[in-house]
Amino acid sequence: MATVTYIDKSGNVYQAEVEDGVTLMEGAVHSSVPGIDAECGGACVCATCHIYIDEEWQATVGRPNEIESMTLEEVDGIKPSSRLACQIAMSSELDGLVVHVANE
Ligand code: FES
Repeated sequence: MATVTYIDKSGNVYQAEVEDGVTLMEGAVHSSVPGIDAECGGACVCATCHIYIDEEWQATVGRPNEIESMTLEEVDGIKPSSRLACQIAMSSELDGLVVHVANE
């Protein structure tokens, strides 16, 4: 179990307790975080779960793999900190993670 802080485009803060193995996308959907629509259900094709990893967590979370990078290249607003929330499974080492929602 890990605590995740999601910050939306308006600066509203949402905290969720996410179980190990559950993705950041699923944690956001269960907590009704706006801007995480997850239209493809986690298949890494829609990018409606686009997030930015907070600077201090980027090294711990790591970079996207090749398939995730290809999907991210199709979205507006991509940054070095961009990730797809459906591709990050929670674990205790990510307890306290802070992410910023990219979409409205
Ligand atoms: S939910 Fe579609 S890419 Fe993440």
